[in-house]
Amino acid sequence: MNPFSISSRSRTHFCNRVKEITSLQKYMRSGIHVVVYAPRRFGKSSLAEVVMEELSDLDTIYIELFSVTSLDDVAKLLYYEITNALGSSAARKPDFLKRLTEFFHRVRLSLSLEATDGTPKIDVSLGDASPELCLKEVITALDAYCLKNGRRACIVLDEFQEICELKESKQIEAFLREGMQRSTMVSFMFMGSRRRLLRDMFESRTRPFYKSSIKLELERLPLAELTTFIEERFQTAGRPVDCAVAEEIATYTEGYPYYAQKLAMLHFELLEDGITDLDSAKLALIKSESSDCENIFVNLAANQKKVLKALARRPTASLYANEYLREHHLGAASSVKTAVEKLQKLDLIESRDGIWQTVDPVLARWLQGYAV
Ligand SMILES: Nc1ncnc2c1ncn2[C@@H]1O[C@H](COP(=O)(O)OP(=O)(O)OP(=O)(O)O)[C@@H](O)[C@H]1O
Ligand SMILES: [Mg+2]
Repeated sequence: MNPFSISSRSRTHFCNRVKEITSLQKYMRSGIHVVVYAPRRFGKSSLAEVVMEELSDLDTIYIELFSVTSLDDVAKLLYYEITNALGSSAARKPDFLKRLTEFFHRVRLSLSLEATDGTPKIDVSLGDASPELCLKEVITALDAYCLKNGRRACIVLDEFQEICELKESKQIEAFLREGMQRSTMVSFMFMGSRRRLLRDMFESRTRPFYKSSIKLELERLPLAELTTFIEERFQTAGRPVDCAVAEEIATYTEGYPYYAQKLAMLHFELLEDGITDLDSAKLALIKSESSDCENIFVNLAANQKKVLKALARRPTASLYANEYLREHHLGAASSVKTAVEKLQKLDLIESRDGIWQTVDPVLARWLQGYAV
C-alpha cells in the first residue's frame, strides 16, 4: 500500500511540527487564543486535527468556514458544529439534548440519523430567532456550558478569512470578538490561508480582533526532517529508496508539505510499475496540478501575469530595479507595484528572506514550462 497520502490528516502521514503541536496544546489548555497563518495546502487543517486529537481533556470543536455565504450561515454552522461536538462527547448520558437546549436555547435542536451510516446527529434550526442575536450569544452559551461541566473547550475556526468576504463581515467579527472576550473557558484557534487578509484582521487597530491572539506562522518543513520522514515511509512500505532520492523529493518541493507528500506518493506508484526515475514522478506532479495552475493564471490581469511569470523564472531581491523591469518587460514600477499588491493579497508571491518569489513551487515550475 502507498505509504503517502494527500488526503489523510492522521499522525502517520505527518512529519515534524513538534514545537507547534506542543505550543498549540499548551495555549489551548491555558485559554490563550492563537491565529495560525500559512499558504494553501501547508498542513493547517492536519495540524489542527493532530493538536485536537491529543486534547482529550478539552471539548474540541472544529469548524471550517469555507462555504459560508452570509451571517445566517455562520450562525447556523457555529451552532451545528458546537452542539454536535458537545453532543458526541455527551451522547451516552441521559437527556443530553435537553441539557444542551438549556444552554443553546436561542435555536431549535433536534436529533436525526445520518443517512450514510445511521450515526445520530443534532440538527439545528434558527426558526424565527434573529440570526444576529444567535451569533452574538453562541460563544457565551458555549462558555456557560463549559463552566457548568467544569471542562474547557477549544474551538478551531478554519479558513477564518472567509468572514472578510461577507457583506456582514464587520458585524460577524464584532459579535465573535465580544463572545470571545466574555468567555473564560473557551480557547480559540483561528486558521487561514490568505495571510494578507488575516494579518489585516488581527493587526489592524480598527478591527475587533486586533491584538486578541498570538500569531503562529507555519514554516515550510525543514528539509532534513522531511528527508528522513520520506525515507522512513518508503522503508516501512518495503520499497526503500536512496537517501539522495528522498532528499531530492524534499528539495524539489521546497519543503512544501502537500507537494512533498504528493511527489513521494507518485514516485511510489511509478516504482510499483517499474518506472524508477524521479523525473517521471516530477512530470506527473506538475501535470496533475496544471489545471489548478491554469485556473489561477487565467484569472489574473495582464500585469499580474507578467510579474508572476518573471518571479517564477527569476526570483529577485531587486524587483523594482530598472534592470529587472527591463529584462522581464514589466513596464513602469508603479504598475508592478499594483500587481505585487494584488499577487500578495492572493498569496501567490512573497518576499521570503529578502527575495521576491512565488509561494507555490509547483506553480513556479508550471510557469517555467515544466522545467523538471
Ligand atoms: N506535517 C506534514 N507532514 C507531511 N505531510 C503533510 C504535513 N502537513 C500536511 N501534509 C500533507 O498536505 C496535505 C494537505 O494538508 P492540509 O489539508 O492540512 O493543508 P491545509 O493547509 O489545511 O490546506 P488548505 O489550504 O487546502 O485547507 C495533507 O493531506 C498531507 O498530505
Ligand atoms: Mg485546510
